[in-house]
Amino acid sequence: MLKVNNLCKSYKNGEIEYEVLKGVSLNVKKGELVAIMGPSGSGKTTLLNCISCFIPVDRGEVLLEDIDITKVSEGELSKIRNKKLGFVFQDFMLLDGLSVFENICLPQIISDSEVESMEKRANLLIDVFGITHIKDKYPAEISGGEKQRTAVARALINDPLLILADEPTGNLDSKSSKSVISAFQDAKKNLGATILMVTHDSFAASFCDRVIILKDGVVYKELCRQGDRIKFMDQLLITIKEMSGESNEN
Ligand SMILES: Nc1ncnc2c1ncn2[C@@H]1O[C@H](COP(=O)(O)OP(=O)(O)O)[C@@H](O)[C@H]1O
Ligand SMILES: [Mg+2]
Repeated sequence: MLKVNNLCKSYKNGEIEYEVLKGVSLNVKKGELVAIMGPSGSGKTTLLNCISCFIPVDRGEVLLEDIDITKVSEGELSKIRNKKLGFVFQDFMLLDGLSVFENICLPQIISDSEVESMEKRANLLIDVFGITHIKDKYPAEISGGEKQRTAVARALINDPLLILADEPTGNLDSKSSKSVISAFQDAKKNLGATILMVTHDSFAASFCDRVIILKDGVVYKELCRQGDRIKFMDQLLITIKEMSGESNEN
C-alpha cells in the first residue's frame, strides 16, 4: 500500500544545510496500524510531510499503491490528498464555526459529493466512534478526546487508502488518548483503515501492530507486536532506553 524508499530531506538555513532524513525506507501494508517513534527533532513530522508531499523531498520515492507521488503534478497531488489520504493533527484542526457533523462532512463538501451518500457515511462514522450524542455540538463545547475522535471521523469520510496522524494524542490526557487510540483500532477493525501515526508516547504506540523507530535520520529499529500489549510496551521502553544510552555515550 505505502512504500517509502530511501527518502532524503535536508533544510537549508542560510549557508548551512542540515540533513534531517538520510535515507528512510519503510512500508505499511493494507489494514495495518503503524507508529513512528523517535526523539524530538528526529524528523518524524518531516517524514510525514514528505509522505504527503506537503514539502518536497530531495531524493527517494513515496509509492502509494505503486504510484510515486513525489513525481505527480500539483493538480494530481491535490486529488490524491483529498481522495486517498486522510489527516489527523495534534491540534485537531476543526473549524470552530461548524458542528461536529459538518466538520466530519467537510472533505466531501470540498470534493462536491452527493449529499445523501455523504450524510450516510458521516452517520456511520459517528456511530463507529461513539460520538452521536455530540453531532450537533460545536468544537468549543466538546472535550479534547471528542475533538480528536471527530477529526479521525473526518479523516475517514472519503474512505482514504491511508491515514497520516502527527502526534494525535499529543495534546490529550491519558484517558482521552486511550479513546483516540480506540478510535484508530475501531477504524482498522470495522472500516479496514490503514493508519500511520507519529507518536512519542510508548503507551499509544503499544496498541499498534508495528513500531518504526527513527534515529539520526534513518530507521533505527522496527518492532512487531506479537501478542501481549504490556510486553510490547516494555519492549518499546527498553529499546528507547537503549537508544538514548547509545546517544549519551557519543
Ligand atoms: N521548515 C524547517 N526549516 C528548517 N528546519 C526545520 C524545518 N522544519 C523542521 N526543521 C528541523 O528539522 C529537524 C526535524 O524536525 P521535525 O521533523 O519537526 O522533528 P520531530 O517531528 O521528530 O520532532 C529539527 O531539528 C527541526 O528544527
Ligand atoms: Mg513533530
